[in-house]
Amino acid sequence: PSDHSDNDNDFLRCLSTDVPGQLVQAPSSPSFTPLLVSSIRNARLVAPATSRPPICIVTPTNASHVQAAVRCGRRHAVRVRVRSGGHDCEGLSYRSGSPKSEAFAVIDLANLHAVTVDPHEATAWVDSGAGIGELYYHVATAAPGLGFPAGVCPTIGVGGHFSGGGMGLMMRKHGLSADNVLDATMVDAQGNLLADKKAMGDDLFWAIRGGGGGNFGIVLSWKVRLVPVPPTVTFFKVPKTMEQGAVDAVTKWQTLAPALPDDLSVRVVVQNREANFQALHLGNCSAAVATMGSRFPELGVTTADCKEMSWLNYTAYIFFGDAINAKPLEALLLNRSMPLGRFVKNKSDYVKKPLTKETWDKIFQWPNGTATGQLVMEPHGGIMARISADGIPFPHRSSVLYNIQYVEFWNGTAAGGDVTPKWVGSLYEFMAPFVSKNPRGAYVNYRDLDIGTNKVVDGVTSYESGKVWGESYFGPENYRRLAKIKRTVDADDYFRSEQSMPPLSLSQ
Ligand code: FDA
Repeated sequence: PSDHSDNDNDFLRCLSTDVPGQLVQAPSSPSFTPLLVSSIRNARLVAPATSRPPICIVTPTNASHVQAAVRCGRRHAVRVRVRSGGHDCEGLSYRSGSPKSEAFAVIDLANLHAVTVDPHEATAWVDSGAGIGELYYHVATAAPGLGFPAGVCPTIGVGGHFSGGGMGLMMRKHGLSADNVLDATMVDAQGNLLADKKAMGDDLFWAIRGGGGGNFGIVLSWKVRLVPVPPTVTFFKVPKTMEQGAVDAVTKWQTLAPALPDDLSVRVVVQNREANFQALHLGNCSAAVATMGSRFPELGVTTADCKEMSWLNYTAYIFFGDAINAKPLEALLLNRSMPLGRFVKNKSDYVKKPLTKETWDKIFQWPNGTATGQLVMEPHGGIMARISADGIPFPHRSSVLYNIQYVEFWNGTAAGGDVTPKWVGSLYEFMAPFVSKNPRGAYVNYRDLDIGTNKVVDGVTSYESGKVWGESYFGPENYRRLAKIKRTVDADDYFRSEQSMPPLSLSQ
C-alpha cells in the first residue's frame, strides 16, 4: 500500500458498492471528527499533528461490510485498522504513529454489540463492539448466578480486551477473559468470513485468544464460558498512608495476595504516598473479614469496611464508586458517552520476586511534579498460576506474583503529546532491577510503544524488530509461534501497525 490519493478514491468507490453510504464517514463529513473521538479516552492520542488521519471510518452493521472493507482495502492498497472500544493505550486502533505513515481506514465495530446469553449452557455470544459493561449487564440480567471475568472499566471494548487477555478481579478464580473463550467468528486477511474455530484451525484460534489485537484478522464475535457467581459478593477498601504503615503493608501484600484463597482478590492502588487496598470477595463480608483477620491483620479490615452486593452491582461499583447509588445499573451500557479525559501514559511490569521495604519507600515518594502518578497492582496466583504459559499466548503465569500498571495523568498540550512524561519514565527505569527480566515482561493490553516499534523491510514487518516488544508481551516461545501463525494467515502483512505481529519468514 502507498499513500496515493488515487488509491484512496478507488477504495472509497469500491466500498460504496457494498457498504451503504451512511456507514462510511470521510474527513470532509461533519460526523467524522465526533465519530473518531467518540471512543478516545486519552487526550494524548487526539493530537492531530503527530498522526495521519484515517481515509475514512466505516461503521459496519453486518459481517459483509467488514469483508468488503478488507477486500476493497487489499485491492486498492489501503490498510485497515479495527476499533472495538477504542481503549488501546497507544490508540493503534484509529491513529498511526506519524504523519508519514501508510494510508489506512478505520473499521469501527460500535454498531456490532449484541450479547446473546444461553443460561442453560452457561455460555454467551458477544460481539466485539460491545463494552464489557454491556456484557456484564446482559449476562447478569439473563442468567442470575452467572458472571464473566474481565476488566474494571465498563467502556472497554470486548474486541481489543479479549484479543489481549483481559484481567479483572475475578482472574484469580476464573482466569483471564481470553481463558474463557470457547469459539469465535472472524474476517481474515483475505476478507473471508471464518464462521467458527474449526474454520480457523487450532493455531489461529490459539492466536486470537491473547495474541494481541489487530494482528490476525477482525474478530466479530466471541462465544464465552460464563462462570458461577454467588448471590452476594463483597467489596472492601482500606486506605493506608505512609504514616499508617502503607510501605510495610504493601511489602507484605506482594507475597500474601497471590496466596490468598482464589475467592478473594485484593489489589492495591498506590498514589500520593498512599496505598489503597481494594478487594473482591466471592462470598459474604464475615468470611472476608475472618480471612483477612487471620492472614493480614495489619490491614485491620472490619465489617464496617465491607459493602455486600450482587456481582453486577460490584462491576458498576468498582468503577463508579458511590456515584452508582444515584444511577441505574444501565450506566454500564453507556459506551460512547464518556469524556475524553486528561493526557495519559501507561506502562506495565511483572513482579516475580518481592521488592524490599526500602525499595517501596522510594517508590512511594517518587517525585511527580504537577502530574498524577498511579500504580495499579493486580495479584496473580490462583488459577492464573495453574494455566500453562503456552495455554494461550498470554505467558505471565505461575512465576508471577503480580502485575504493575503505571499510569501517569497530566494536563498536556498537543505538541507534547507523544513524549513519555517524567514520573512514569524515570520510575520505569528505576524499577528495571526489581521486575521480570530477559525479557522484561509487559502486558499487551497496556500497550506501550516505548518498548519498541516495528521496522518494515522489503515491504514486510521484520521479525527481528518485533522481537523487542513481542517477547515482552508474549515470551520468546509464544512470540515465535504467533509470528509463524501470522505467516500462515497474513503472509504479506496486510494487518499491520507500529506493533503488529510480524510474519516469520520461511528462512527463520
Ligand atoms: P481498541 O478498539 O482500541 O483495540 C485495541 C487493539 O485491538 C487495537 O490494536 C485494535 O486494532 C485491536 N482490535 C480491536 N478490535 C478488534 C477485533 N474485533 N478483532 C481484532 N483486533 C481488534 N485491561 C485489562 O486487562 N483490565 C482492565 O481492568 C483494564 N482497564 C482499562 C481501563 C482503561 C480506562 C483503559 C483505557 C484500558 C484498560 N485496559 C484494561 C486495557 C484494555 O484491555 C486494552 O486497551 C484493550 O485492548 C482495549 O480494547 P478495546 O476494544 O477497547 O480497544
